[in-house]
Amino acid sequence: MTDPERQNIESSLHETRVFPPRPAAELGMSHWVVDGREDYREQHRRAIEDPERFWGAVASELDWFEPFSRVLDWKAPDAKWFDGGVTNVCHNALDRQIAAGHGDEVALIWEGEPTPGGQPEVLRFTYRELHAEVCRFARALDALGVKKGDVVTIYMGMVPELAIAVLACARIGAPHSVIFGGFSAQAIVDRVQDASSQVIVTCDGSWRRGGVVPLKANVDQACATLEAKGHPVRDVVVVRRVGNDVDWHAGRDKEWSDLVADQAPDRAPEPMAAEDMLFLLYTSGSTGKPKGIVHTTGGYMVWTYFTARATFNLLPDEGQVYWCTADIGWITGHSYILYGLLPNRVPTIMYEGAPNAPDEGRFWEIIERHKVTHFYTAPTAIRAFMKWGDKHVTGKDLSSLKVLGTVGEPINPEAWAWYHRVIGRERCPIVDTWWQTETGGHMLTPLPGVTATKPGSCTTPMIGVDAAIVDAGTFREVEPGGGGLLVIRRPWPGMLRGIHGDRQRFVDTYWHNDRGYYVAGDGARQDEDGFFWIMGRVDDVINVSGHRIGTMEVESALVGHPAVVEAAVVGMPHEIKGTGIAAFCTLEPHWAAKFDADPKAVTDALRAHVAKEIGPFAKPDALRFADGLPKTRSGKIMRRLLRDVAAGIDGHQDTTTLEDRGVLENLRACQVY
Ligand code: PRX
Repeated sequence: MTDPERQNIESSLHETRVFPPRPAAELGMSHWVVDGREDYREQHRRAIEDPERFWGAVASELDWFEPFSRVLDWKAPDAKWFDGGVTNVCHNALDRQIAAGHGDEVALIWEGEPTPGGQPEVLRFTYRELHAEVCRFARALDALGVKKGDVVTIYMGMVPELAIAVLACARIGAPHSVIFGGFSAQAIVDRVQDASSQVIVTCDGSWRRGGVVPLKANVDQACATLEAKGHPVRDVVVVRRVGNDVDWHAGRDKEWSDLVADQAPDRAPEPMAAEDMLFLLYTSGSTGKPKGIVHTTGGYMVWTYFTARATFNLLPDEGQVYWCTADIGWITGHSYILYGLLPNRVPTIMYEGAPNAPDEGRFWEIIERHKVTHFYTAPTAIRAFMKWGDKHVTGKDLSSLKVLGTVGEPINPEAWAWYHRVIGRERCPIVDTWWQTETGGHMLTPLPGVTATKPGSCTTPMIGVDAAIVDAGTFREVEPGGGGLLVIRRPWPGMLRGIHGDRQRFVDTYWHNDRGYYVAGDGARQDEDGFFWIMGRVDDVINVSGHRIGTMEVESALVGHPAVVEAAVVGMPHEIKGTGIAAFCTLEPHWAAKFDADPKAVTDALRAHVAKEIGPFAKPDALRFADGLPKTRSGKIMRRLLRDVAAGIDGHQDTTTLEDRGVLENLRACQVY
């Protein structure tokens, strides 16, 4: 556990405030989707006791080309949901709305980053327009020879073509693998190779606070490495966004605009079996190698549709405008910018830029301009805004807001209270949603109108989610108040179906118990009201600014640099990021001499190396150098001690197994870079 997590628990343990749900009418909504505590209990009970009937009914609200014959076929750890059913997620997102007469309503609002010296750009797509664009690109993919089942890699900034590409893949049954645009060329190599992907869709570059992220150059570099590894990429499709110079590889590279120019604006949705793969999304685990999480068509579609509506109280025809600030490169963007929103017929905003460019009032200005009713962001952003000060918010008209959400990491009660007071004006319910790439959608969250909220708690399970806290050894449920592993005891429609190409890792990581429980990898406790409090990861994963990073990934990046002989990486408290990255390294003697002469040159080189291997967001916040790392006599690095050092505390931990105590003292005394 990292120190901020510890601090969170400390403040959470003393957190006694309870905010009861309020009538929907007070917030200008006709009703709550889940109508009070009793309704929630009843639906929850029915979904658990009779999942066939409950989820069958929810699924039937969507279109199926062939009806499913069985709702759930479960033999841990393998679930089949809606077996026999044939559908298409893109059809349910777009065609279904058009067929019901809503084609001219706004589906997607895109707000661009203000280009240097320019005005912010806004584009609005109706369901019909989005459908046409998606079909054109779907046909373009057909023309490139992409077939059902072929994985298409998408590495783009937050431009409308990203949403279009994702939906076009879903339409033709080509699983997408979206790589967050902050990842490096090396990260692309690993993911493209693991997925055996032959097509990459990218942009020339993306805007980031007025600067350019060279996406195409990164793809070029990745392609060169892939070629050398015997895995040539066949097609690279390029959207022009920033107008930077890019190298052009004739034959391989294609302009998006050329590909779609002559395509007809229709393309039949591919009939997809419920368990056909919808997408792969790579996420970090306990080893250096990211895992390709597999999500399939039917269950994920039903889960995101249902959870988005319940959690945010989505009501079409009530002027709602929903904005999730995540990047589509992460699961939050997949599920709660696109897939959960479009079938619910509430316009969804996609924002290209940063929270503080051109100034720190950007988010609030967007809320004001678009009369945003639902705002979903990460605690790290909230903490940054707290630091930047209320002055950027005061004077902005945020009266349109009705429901606020957070995701990605534990929210400290102070940030929660600020969000509630300054952004929510003490009117808006806050949904603190706990979930994961693997769960596809919300698992523990308050439902507005239903659940009283306690700052720092993600409260109670989503309808149909059977969550519990168990002892890590016995997997028996622990008494209320006690901490343990967070598990999900029964299957749910949006659950991952596997790790691409690695069955054993799937079983070992999530299902290492004989009860068929899904092990989330988070520690948590439940209070006397049955509310859940997340205590943080129990494995070597850290949530840095809500971005999930494996400490081993950063370690392998560091030892991949010739300067570093050994490295250990742990989480450390960070005022804004929640958890920062602390790295402890021993240097190769020649480099140690260089370091003595010019420490900055070496630390800069190491940070740049991590950025190159993973992405800039994985750069260590604190670097320490010493001749040795604290180890047990059997040579295992004692990370819990390093966490204390990184946090600047003496946790009075047991050090009897430590081989050499001097090492710890040296680390405590050494300078932090
Ligand atoms: O540790 C939990 C934390 O984020 C992890 C999942 O990361 P990822 O797969 O990248 O998905 C992030 C967006 C869903 C979890 O194992 N986490 C996520 N939401 C919360 C959270 N921790 C505390 N409270 C949350 N609301």
